[in-house]
Amino acid sequence: MNKLQKDGYSRYDLMKSLNYEGIEQDYNEILAYFADLPEDDYAPNLNRYRRYSRAIVLPGTEDVFWLPTIERNGVDYSAYFQGKFNPEHSGSYREFHSIDENIRSNKLLNDIIIANYHETFWNEEDKILPIHVGVHFVKLYVENDGDKAVSSPNCLHQDGEPFTFAHLIERKNIVGGTNAIAVPEAAGNNPEDTDENNIIEVFEMENPLESYGVYDPNVSHYVSPVEKGSEQGTGLRSVILIDYQQTVVADVDE
Ligand SMILES: [Fe+2]
Repeated sequence: MNKLQKDGYSRYDLMKSLNYEGIEQDYNEILAYFADLPEDDYAPNLNRYRRYSRAIVLPGTEDVFWLPTIERNGVDYSAYFQGKFNPEHSGSYREFHSIDENIRSNKLLNDIIIANYHETFWNEEDKILPIHVGVHFVKLYVENDGDKAVSSPNCLHQDGEPFTFAHLIERKNIVGGTNAIAVPEAAGNNPEDTDENNIIEVFEMENPLESYGVYDPNVSHYVSPVEKGSEQGTGLRSVILIDYQQTVVADVDE
């Protein structure tokens, strides 16, 4: 039983554990790609930028396949269904700009997807069909003093997908972006507004590919808003969020 299963969450250093010849170049390709993410259409003027694509992992062979995108006016989109857990977008269907093909085939990104997958645990019957993987590239970017960039939802919450992993790509000249892990009952609250006994750990990710994962039913999680730090120039926090869920087979009695 790994720590994720035992405690409901775990922290990782994937730059260390995935280390291979060429990891730096692959990381730099992803880092450069974050420089030019489009604004989140669903959070205009909130200093949030993002792309999203979906893949499946085949249990057994552990092959990763990226799902086809939807094209509108020459732009590729990937559809997203949040389910019922995000209080700001309850049950909503959304379409995000896709992650480009050259990045979808980046070895480091695919290694991260499989490394996370190895941490997850499933019922035997869940492993008959593909595991669904949602990959979000999210950048919070603040240009001026007083600007604030907020993650959604801005409270302790559960995602709905059984597993979510967050991987830091870059953190530069910001204050905030502090992570908190809490008991499930604390969902809906800000960490400051909940009993301190409900908080399991508070931490910040500083270094490239510093990461954490949650087993969603057993914990709630949070990341605080980001503001510009005291140095010259802009501030940003870039992460890759990856969620995993089993293929849900319709219940014929419903
Ligand atoms: Fe979340």
